[in-house]
Parts: sequence; structure tokens; C-alpha cells
Amino acid sequence: MADSAPYTKVAQLRTVAELRERLAELGLDLPVDYTILTAEAGSPLAEPIDIGGFQVGNRWCIHPMEGWDANPDGSPSEYTLRRWRRFGLSGAKLIWGGEAAAVRPDGRANPQQTLAIESNRAGLAALLDEVREGHLEQCGTLDGLLVGLQLTHSGRFCKPNDKKTFEPRIAYHHPLLDEKFGIDFEDEDLVWTDEQLEELIDQYVAAAQLAQEVGYQFVDVKACHGYLLHEFLSARRRPGKFGGDLAGRSRLMLEIIRRIRTELPGLMVGVRLSVFDFVPYKTSREVGQPMDFEELIPYDCGFGVDEENPLTYDLTEPLQVIRMLTQAGVATINLSCGSPYYNPHIQRPAIFPPSDGYLPPEDPLVGVWRQIDVVRQCKQAAGDVPLVGTGYSYLQDYLPHVAQAVVRAGWVDLVGLGRMVLSYPELPHDSLTTGKLTRKLVCRTFSDCTTAPRHGLISGCYPLDDYYKRLPEREQLIEIKQGLDSQ
Ligand SMILES: Cc1cc2nc3c(=O)[nH]c(=O)nc-3n(C[C@H](O)[C@H](O)[C@H](O)COP(=O)(O)O)c2cc1C
Ligand code: SF4
Repeated sequence: MADSAPYTKVAQLRTVAELRERLAELGLDLPVDYTILTAEAGSPLAEPIDIGGFQVGNRWCIHPMEGWDANPDGSPSEYTLRRWRRFGLSGAKLIWGGEAAAVRPDGRANPQQTLAIESNRAGLAALLDEVREGHLEQCGTLDGLLVGLQLTHSGRFCKPNDKKTFEPRIAYHHPLLDEKFGIDFEDEDLVWTDEQLEELIDQYVAAAQLAQEVGYQFVDVKACHGYLLHEFLSARRRPGKFGGDLAGRSRLMLEIIRRIRTELPGLMVGVRLSVFDFVPYKTSREVGQPMDFEELIPYDCGFGVDEENPLTYDLTEPLQVIRMLTQAGVATINLSCGSPYYNPHIQRPAIFPPSDGYLPPEDPLVGVWRQIDVVRQCKQAAGDVPLVGTGYSYLQDYLPHVAQAVVRAGWVDLVGLGRMVLSYPELPHDSLTTGKLTRKLVCRTFSDCTTAPRHGLISGCYPLDDYYKRLPEREQLIEIKQGLDSQ
């Protein structure tokens, strides 16, 4: 297999004019500024914004990024602390959740996931200290810094005890995802009962209370990427009060939000939402192909998926959910899409796929544009509630040029960084202060930060971050990748 797709790489586009030409060739309407504006020169990214009554100091946001590197008791390791410190060093004024923290041990996506439970109170406090210290070191002040904690249950993708063994807890049996991940379609024990969900709601509230006591200013009730609360949004096949129509399918998420808002006044709530989805794709070393879905039309197992053509999105329900969230008093919404487990090309546009993915079936710029354009379409439904956008890392050297243009155009309120912050945490600070980027740190979407944990290694930017380059895990990763290429 070729190790990358046959599309023009962004790194080969030498000027903004060449990027604009490429976008035009692809028929993508995406604003791109010619130069990076510093704060002094009037960058729209330097403008403060009100989130739930708090003045956030700029328009850069750091997305949650886990590292599969906590200690087995859910407390942070030196790797976890370093990552959070670097989130602070970015100079971004919105830290969206740090990383997914499981509200109970069996809800972890891997045995080294951070836990938002009482026994890890000190660990959650240490992470918050670290992000603040990093920020203080870079910016000299904590003014305008808003930090939240992302709360999760991994649902279908739980692997709490063994890095290789799924222990799924599902909302309903999904014909394609059950097949892809080896779930017995008849096994009803894996499906949550309504009573078990009531207990889970209590656990979310307890985790939120812990976060508030430790000093986090908001919690993210995570509803994205195929994890539990996202899966419930498509649970049309589930009987009872947490399934069926949209009111039923959104009940679990909304009830958690309602309880937190009522019982923990003063704690803001955000939601990270996979606002659209596609059908699952087949894992392969070739160009990505969707799983066979023809017999499932009209497709009823996705949220924000066109039921007649599930290779495209339909925002009818997502727009309704965004309205429901604003009515529920959510302070901000972070829009993402799909799932890294079953359609990574829409969620994390990349030229080099992760080992459990496939070669991109479209120029990754299309994936970037799709996420940005969908957020634009959601703006009206969100009203005054600020929206954070996702999927910008593939823009590489031109990320700030697009980010400042779309914020100025009012397509999005804050621009979030995922992978880019692993390789180049100072990008927000550099763009606002000097307007110049350090090219050798720009994320090239090699996907090693996803491939490593898929093989039981801790995550990190092995190709570009000197700290990870020196770890023995880097050699292991190289061997793993060579083994895959020779298959
Ligand atoms: C190594 C890694 C860990 C991630 N961990 C989380 C997480 O804990 N919670 C979450 O909501 N998203 C997580 N994501 C998704 C990112 O937040 C982001 O949505 C994605 O990388 C796309 O944005 P980008 O193009 O800027 O990378 C993770 C992504 C990567 C690569
Ligand atoms: S490993 Fe580094 S360069 Fe590759 S996608 Fe992750 S952050 Fe980017």
C-alpha cells in the first residue's frame, strides 16, 4: 500500500495563492487570508468573547486530547501532566476539557484513561494546576482563561481492563458497528437498561461536582465520536424512554445537563457534539470504502446522517438538538463529527491514515471544509451560544489564515486545535504575537498519535516532538508500521 493518498499535499502548496487555487479546483468555498494577523494588527482571533458570562480572552481553543497515558488508577502520569502544561502554553484562552475523563472505571476507553472519580481528586487538581502554570508562563496572566473538564463514558468503545479487549456497553444493537467490532447481535446483556442509566446520570453529576470543587469552570458533557451519549442520539431502534423519537434519544444527555445545571449552580456546561456522521467504513490498507449499507436504506442508525444516502449528512435533527441544548442552558457547544473508530477521514482529515483506518477517499481538504461549512450552517440555530469549530489541523501552515478569516466572517466563534497542539503547542501564541510559524513543528497529519495507542502505546507526536522522538516507544512504533507495510 502507498503510505499516503495521491492528493496534492498542503506542504507542497508554497503560497496562499496556491492553496486558494487548490480550493477552487476542488470547488470549496473557504475564506483564506493572505497573511497571519497578530493581535496588534487586529486579528479577529485576538477578540475576547463572552461564554456564559465569562470573558474568554481570545478565539483560540484547545480541544480535548487524551494520551492513553494515565496511571492505572486514573491519576496523571508525567506524560499526562506535560500534555496539559503544553495546552496552557499555547496561549489559547479556552481549554475545552483537557481530555476525556471517564465518570466510572468501567467506562474507560483504555486502561490508562484519566478518571473523574473521587479517588482521583488530587490528580484532577494537578492537571488543572499544570494547565494554568503553562498558561501563566506563556501569557503572564490567567485573565480570560476558561478551563473545563470533559466527562465521558466510552459506551461501545470501552476497554477498561485490557488494551486489546473491548467490553462494550451499548445503547442498541447497530448492524454495521456490531459486525465491525465483533459484537454478538443477540447479546442483550450489553445493552443498558433504563435503571442502569439512572445510576449513570448520578455518576455524571458526581463527576461534575468533583470537577467544580477542584476548580474547573465548566464540564463538557461529551456527546461525540461514537461514545455513549453520541450513540444514544441515533438509538431509534431502542424501546423505552431513552430511545425512539428525538426527544427520547436526547433524553439521557439532556437529563444529565439538567441535573448538573440544577444541582451545581455556578458550574457551566458545554457539549462536544458529533453534529453529523456517515456510515462506518471498512478498515483496510486501500482507499476507504463504506461498509455495505444498501440493505439498511432508509438508514436509521446514524445521527445527522442522510437516511437515503448515508454517505452524506442531514442537519435536520442536529439543528433541533442544538436548539434543545441552548434551551437547556448550555454555555457553549464544540462541534465535531463522526468517529475516529469507524470513519476517521471525516473526523480527523489526514493525508497519512492511522493503522486502523484506510487511505482517504477524498482530498482531506474536503473533510476540513465540510466541518467548517457545517458549523457555518449551525450558527443560526445556536443563537448567542458560542460555537467552537474542529478539524483545522490539516490546514497546516495555513491554519491561522483560515482561522482568522472564518472568525471574521462569523462562520464560527472559536477555532479549536487538536493534533496541531501536540506537535506545535505555541501556534496560537506565535500567530497572535509574531504572525510567524515554526515550520518544522507544523503537524503533517502523520497519524502516529492515533496509530500508537491503537497498538497499546502511549500517544504523542513521535515524528515532530523531541520528547517523544527520544522514547523507546518510537522504535516500537516504527517496527509496527514497517510490519503493516510489509503485509
Ligand atoms: C491523540 C488524540 C486524542 C484525542 N482525544 C480526544 C479526547 O479525549 N476527547 C475528544 O473529544 N476528542 C479527542 N480527540 C479528537 C480531537 O479533539 C479533534 O477533534 C481531532 O483531532 C480533529 O481536530 P484536528 O484536525 O485539529 O486534529 C483526540 C484526537 C487525537 C489525535
Ligand atoms: S503524530 Fe504529530 S504530526 Fe502526526 S498527526 Fe499526530 S500531531 Fe500531527
